[in-house]
Amino acid sequence: MNILAIESSCDETSAAVITNGNIRSNVVATQLIHTQYGGVVPELASRAHQQHILPVVDKALNDAKIGKKDLDAIAFTKGPGLLGALLVGTSFAKSMALGLAIPLIEINHMQAHVLAHFIDAPKPAFPFLCLTVSGGHTQIVKVTSPLDMEIIGETRDDAVGEAFDKTAKLLDLPYPGGPLIDRYAAEGNPQAYPFPLPEMPGLDFSFSGIKTSFLYFLQKQVRQNPGFIKENIKDICASIQYTLIDILLKKLKKAVRETGIREIAIAGGVSANSGLRNSLREMGDQLGWNVYIPAFEYCTDNAAMIAMAAHFKYEAGEFCDQTVSPLARMEF
Ligand code: KG4
Ligand code: ZN
Repeated sequence: MNILAIESSCDETSAAVITNGNIRSNVVATQLIHTQYGGVVPELASRAHQQHILPVVDKALNDAKIGKKDLDAIAFTKGPGLLGALLVGTSFAKSMALGLAIPLIEINHMQAHVLAHFIDAPKPAFPFLCLTVSGGHTQIVKVTSPLDMEIIGETRDDAVGEAFDKTAKLLDLPYPGGPLIDRYAAEGNPQAYPFPLPEMPGLDFSFSGIKTSFLYFLQKQVRQNPGFIKENIKDICASIQYTLIDILLKKLKKAVRETGIREIAIAGGVSANSGLRNSLREMGDQLGWNVYIPAFEYCTDNAAMIAMAAHFKYEAGEFCDQTVSPLARMEF
């Protein structure tokens, strides 16, 4: 059983092929055009998806050594994401499924991030908790089975990836700044500049206040010494990263206490952060959790995770019809 999966929710055009639950190919074309604008420009993303989608799909089929006629279903990201970007992948998938007379499978991008854990071993046992952290979302998800997930905590304002990227912008680092903060942080002192943690009840997060704290702190320091950022970039990045990770892991710890679940996974673009990966491993060792961290290639946006989610939906017989439309906001 071969499924072609397409991902186009933000600034990565990606296609993957999965055969009987095994990923055979995963092609990702990253749109570099956004770097010069300091963030993703939706209209440019849509145009770039249109340019990339055909060669990306062709390469995914070639890498998997199969032809279009060998496909049993086409899956695509229905949402959440940028509507214009989602439309490109959705329209492409619908046309291809219609032309080949095979079923269509709609996928929720955030659920697919969680299901990326089933691409390679070791795979988490059910039920598990997944901290899903990306440019647009910050969620703690309770996963009871591949198709049964519940958000038990989420951000009330900004996503943690957004906090990384916007803070990086204040530091004059190019977009996306998250990976650059990570790189500088590795050589800095995380205790150099302490920041107050936000108070947020329950399992929900807030990152808008801490973003403002970073802004005021930097403005004050630069007023006193215009060279402050350049001279202390490693310590600044380490301190900011330490604070963001602390906010995430404190809530995760609380979620473990409240649910009693000790199978813990992370997913989404920010799960590529080396500080988060190391801190989570350490916390897991100390508290007796089984921790699952995806390979780097399956952290940021990719179609392999869409294909994995599609595999479970195909097995459950969950298909959609040609009237389907993408959704910028999409619930579980
Ligand atoms: O999941 P993703 O690729 O796209 C969305 O669905 O949003 O996540 C992108 C986010 C960006 O905010 C990016 O800065 C962040 O993931 N990111 C990182 C790292 N790699 C990617 N943040 C911190 N450290 C990293 N190493
Ligand atoms: Zn994503």
